[in-house]
Amino acid sequence: MPQTVLVTGGAGFIGSHTCVELLRSGHEVVVLDDHSNSSPESLERVAKIAGRPIAAAHTADVRDRRALDKVFASHKIDAVIHFAAKKAVGESVQIPLTYYDINVGGTTALVSAMHDHGVHRLVFSSSCSIYGNATVVPLTEESPAAPTNPYATTKWTCERILADLCRNLPELRVLALRYFNPAGAHPTGLLGEDPRGIPNNIMPFLAQIAVGRREELSVFGDDYPTPDGTGVRDYIHVVDVAEGHRAALDHIDDEPGMRVFNLGTGRGSSVLELVKTFEEVSGRPIPHRIAARRPGDVAELVADPAKVESAWGWTARRDVAAMCRDAWNFQQQNPYGYAP
Ligand code: UD1
Repeated sequence: MPQTVLVTGGAGFIGSHTCVELLRSGHEVVVLDDHSNSSPESLERVAKIAGRPIAAAHTADVRDRRALDKVFASHKIDAVIHFAAKKAVGESVQIPLTYYDINVGGTTALVSAMHDHGVHRLVFSSSCSIYGNATVVPLTEESPAAPTNPYATTKWTCERILADLCRNLPELRVLALRYFNPAGAHPTGLLGEDPRGIPNNIMPFLAQIAVGRREELSVFGDDYPTPDGTGVRDYIHVVDVAEGHRAALDHIDDEPGMRVFNLGTGRGSSVLELVKTFEEVSGRPIPHRIAARRPGDVAELVADPAKVESAWGWTARRDVAAMCRDAWNFQQQNPYGYAP
């Protein structure tokens, strides 16, 4: 089992929850994060939950080769989990070059540093968004990729680069995990999603309405070909996603080369269903009105999670009500996120 794990973007939403799971299962954890969309405070809380701290935190941009060399020179890294990336679909349409630079350039810089320092195990954060306008759901890993926005295209591009590298560098082992929609928070209320500015993703937006920071939700489109006309997504609890990464490390040496897995629940929820569940769980009304579709959005993305279950015995265990409950708990305990 890989012992010391470098986690890029380890202070972020999924990264911080993953650090907790890694520490709990006995790994040493080194974090590299530029804090462009995260707070160092999350790592203090990781230590509090896990009962021990991470080994080191480096503040640096993942594209910075010098900084990467320093990290690999100062720790004996056995495996890397690469979360550091930009992830807002709408923003990616506005500033696509920045997305290519950070998401693709960051990944090649990282793999190049790994190669030079003899590190061959990588877990890559991919995304269900690569499936784009899926015609058939649920989506298996064999479903065709058809990204509809620059964010999704960067993730698909990284997957193809990594697959090609694996074909040419036989020592490399890559697991690309295609997350569906990670949501929720740690059940302790200490860790959660704390986006800078106006949240792009729906769950933190709902939580900020419930706590009184925002007025109402714009429901982006009610004319999709879905049962109630609003977008359907496969929301997966962030702790399930974190546990999926722990399982990935346990299985990264099963086979050489590149392997791809969906991380989803197999169950879809519409925007209106999510609003209703959040209202029930929080006991607060969520004012909402129908607005135009958001550019780059698709109707429905739901995983077929069978492959990862049969390979690793891993399956998502928490439901949408738990995601809403935990997101609400985090929001109540931290109305302004990690800010003091
Ligand atoms: C997108 C990506 C996903 C990625 C995630 C990371 C796509 C299709 N999906 O998720 O792969 O992991 O970003 O950020 O590219 N909504 C509203 N009002 C809001 C916000 C959202 O109605 O204010 C709706 C959206 O239209 C969508 C659903 O809520 O139907 C979920 O949106 P969001 O949380 O932003 O995630 P995705 O766009 O699905």
